[in-house]
Amino acid sequence: MLLYIHFPFCRSKCAYCDFTSYANCGEALVFSYLTALNREIAFASERFAHSRIDTVYLGGGTPSLLSPKQIEGLFAKLRKSFPDYAPVEVTAEVNPESATSDVLAAFRDAGVDRISMGVQSFSDDNLRAVGRIHTAAEARAAIKRIDQLFDNFSLDLILGLPYDTPELIREEAREAAGSAPHVSAYELTLEEGTALFAAAEEGRVWLPSDDEVADYLDIVTDTLEEQGLMRYEVSNFALPGRECKHNSGYWTREEYVGLGAGAHSLIKTDAKGEKLPNEIRFASPRDLNAYIGGVNCVSAFDDVPRAEMSVLSADEIRAERIMLGLRTRDGIPEELLSGRDLSRVEKFTVREGGRIRLTRDGLSVMNSVLTEII
Ligand SMILES: C[S@@+](CC[C@H](N)C(=O)[O-])C[C@H]1O[C@@H](n2cnc3c(N)ncnc32)[C@H](O)[C@@H]1O
Ligand code: SF4
Repeated sequence: MLLYIHFPFCRSKCAYCDFTSYANCGEALVFSYLTALNREIAFASERFAHSRIDTVYLGGGTPSLLSPKQIEGLFAKLRKSFPDYAPVEVTAEVNPESATSDVLAAFRDAGVDRISMGVQSFSDDNLRAVGRIHTAAEARAAIKRIDQLFDNFSLDLILGLPYDTPELIREEAREAAGSAPHVSAYELTLEEGTALFAAAEEGRVWLPSDDEVADYLDIVTDTLEEQGLMRYEVSNFALPGRECKHNSGYWTREEYVGLGAGAHSLIKTDAKGEKLPNEIRFASPRDLNAYIGGVNCVSAFDDVPRAEMSVLSADEIRAERIMLGLRTRDGIPEELLSGRDLSRVEKFTVREGGRIRLTRDGLSVMNSVLTEII
């Protein structure tokens, strides 16, 4: 089982971001949130007493805003609640301006063995344009601090920011690959309701076209692979053996339990560890008061109010296995596609050892290929 824990607080809200994250919240709210989160951890440890935790991912928001004491407390709670706690990978997400040596050391001492930091861009113009509160120099200094304490870490880049050019993208990819064993390069998603969406609608900001962004992803892929970071998922690149185990588990549809506001779960087993007749997917409320109130007024994991819940049919599960698997270098077993007409997408696929995956051109037009197949 994969365990995801969400910390939804940020120092300020970035213009593109639609994740469950809130800026300028007081200490009291953070305290109430952590209290509810501890309660939900205790519920989960009863509900999943028969499952082993394979990986942990503490995401945000900005988990590096936690104090060393809060970090210690959170992981002590996990250790105490799950007696067999021995995950093979524990990741924490951090931001450059709050990834201080103290916070990083607290993560390491608490058992975190992988850090993922959002750099987004090494251009100060880009960082300013999307409301990041750090400079490129501060990101570089944070990378040095991480490198001193962690062997395994990842940097996030966003492609398609206002000041991107092919030259800048090549330089950024070169610098990221020279600094870290793992890089995630996400194409910018313009999310409705964000400040960047409004600015683009009103013509206050210029953004590269979809074709330009697709070219950027090509440049990044070439540059990272030249430096030995191989593409193992559409947006993820790693030195051999440094692939993220937690995220890889999402793409192979392992059971995952998400704790905290806005966190998603995919549940396959009952409280005795037996397979459920149907897989269930749900999310917790994104709203902090709804989440905190919801957790505080129940006494078991299955009673926590959820924002979305669906019982998955066999067809839905098969479609998900195809959609998620084809994002990855490993692809999917060929039999998942038996009975489907693949003639129009054949040229975008490779068959090998009973599996089928997308070619590099196939990954570039992945959404059209998936629409055709599914
Ligand atoms: C959940 S966020 C949290 C990371 C961390 N708080 C930070 O900002 O560095 C994880 C990553 O998602 C990516 N991301 C967030 N919003 C995005 C968007 N609208 N389009 C593309 N990537 C996005 C960013 O690269 C970010 O680092
Ligand atoms: S990108 Fe990261 S720091 Fe910025 S608002 Fe989203 S979660 Fe917070």
